[in-house]
Amino acid sequence: MAKGNILVVDDDQIILNSLSEFLRLEGYEVETAEKFEEAVAWLDQKPFDVMVTDVSMPDVDGFELLKVCKNRHSDVAVIMVTGYGTIESAVDAIKMGAYDYLTKPIIDDEIKLVIDRAMRQQALVGENRSLRQQLNMRYSLESVVGNDYKMLRVFDLIEAVADSKATVLITGESGTGKSLIARTIHQRSSRSDKPFIEVACGALPETLLESELFGHAKGSFTGAIGDKAGKFEAANKGTIFLDEISTASPALQVKLLRVLQTFEFERVGSTETMKADTRVILATNRDLMQDVKDGKFRQDLYYRINVVAIELPPLRERISDIPLLADSFLKLYCERSGRMLLDFSEDAMRLMQTYAWPGNVRELENVVERATVLARGRTVDVDDLPPTLLRQAEEKAATGDDGRILPLKDALEKPEKEIIERALRANNWNRQLTADLLEINRTTLYKKMKKYGLDFSEPMARG
Ligand SMILES: Nc1ncnc2c1ncn2[C@@H]1O[C@H](COP(=O)(O)OP(=O)(O)O)[C@@H](O)[C@H]1O
Ligand SMILES: [Mg+2]
Repeated sequence: MAKGNILVVDDDQIILNSLSEFLRLEGYEVETAEKFEEAVAWLDQKPFDVMVTDVSMPDVDGFELLKVCKNRHSDVAVIMVTGYGTIESAVDAIKMGAYDYLTKPIIDDEIKLVIDRAMRQQALVGENRSLRQQLNMRYSLESVVGNDYKMLRVFDLIEAVADSKATVLITGESGTGKSLIARTIHQRSSRSDKPFIEVACGALPETLLESELFGHAKGSFTGAIGDKAGKFEAANKGTIFLDEISTASPALQVKLLRVLQTFEFERVGSTETMKADTRVILATNRDLMQDVKDGKFRQDLYYRINVVAIELPPLRERISDIPLLADSFLKLYCERSGRMLLDFSEDAMRLMQTYAWPGNVRELENVVERATVLARGRTVDVDDLPPTLLRQAEEKAATGDDGRILPLKDALEKPEKEIIERALRANNWNRQLTADLLEINRTTLYKKMKKYGLDFSEPMARG
């Protein structure tokens, strides 16, 4: 029996043949493709464990294939083969979710090692997947996009707790998907056919919030013309989602603690005790533990709601999810507006991956929606993204802090130039003294001054 299925993609037939022959001898079942379309056809046709693809190909490059895998065949481990010295595209490949990369020329031992490792990981993923599929038959996590390991952990946690009645506290910056996750938990629970009711606690003044949550009796305050059920009752057998929980007043916190412990409460202005079987999910974008320390949030309530904690990382800490999310929003908004399916240019995608996204996924979604309206051709380019993205990237580039990993030699250039310039200034541009100070010889100094364009500064120093 074959050790696994591999698809090898390269526009160079010689490489294709030798590589596939080598892998067959290693005991794998190997298919080959010279072109993008051919590769996609294979992927649609047969389940592969691993795809090895060249990055640079004439018509459509390996990144596009990587995208196809990430979108439609996420269970295929993708190994990218890059040309010598294109470390940058290798880094991009990893960011976009490639399993690993190799640089040309491909060395047999190296590829054997990488593929063995990928196969072992695939076996684990497979086990995990079959467990997950059993659960997926009942519920689906489809609307939540993410492949970063932090998000995969979140998905596992959701699966583990969805069907219990455990109180869940979701924390994360605004726009990280707290509301979406709360809804997903409800959908994946056995309560999914019962109501899911969301209350934005921060949006209502304290008194109104209390009657909103627990209801009120007729005449309990001006305007209370009849008895009214609150959201806890409305969400009976279902789920109530209390957003911005940190805004709850001390009085309300007491009531919440009680309802979480006993599921009992009274409507405002009534003495009759009510009971509701309601699952409670809460969310906050604040550090509640700090609020506890500052005496703003009850400690007992904090421990009561923090039974299951789901922390959603900011988008800038899961950059490998950016292409996935961007592509899925692009698809969504193209379909919605009836546009032909667009794609992102490489530059646009790179820019999105370097941007810090203070508004997280919500901001990304808005940016993509805007781009589908603005894009003229078939490709969303840098021009179609808000200028803020480019401005921030330029600022970062100016400070040499755009987060990209450069080859060491290139990365060292900037500090070297600064050190030489400082030394020159300190010695009033006297080369001998500068060379002595830096403990290099004068020729080396002169060469470096020329390289960094420092050799013309002399006359200015005199002035
Ligand atoms: N992982 C994700 N996959 C798909 N869409 C997401 C994801 N996270 C957030 N979104 C979308 O981004 C927007 C903001 O998410 P939301 O849940 O309202 O954030 P929060 O409640 O944390 O402010 C929503 O339109 C939501 O559907
Ligand atoms: Mg929200």
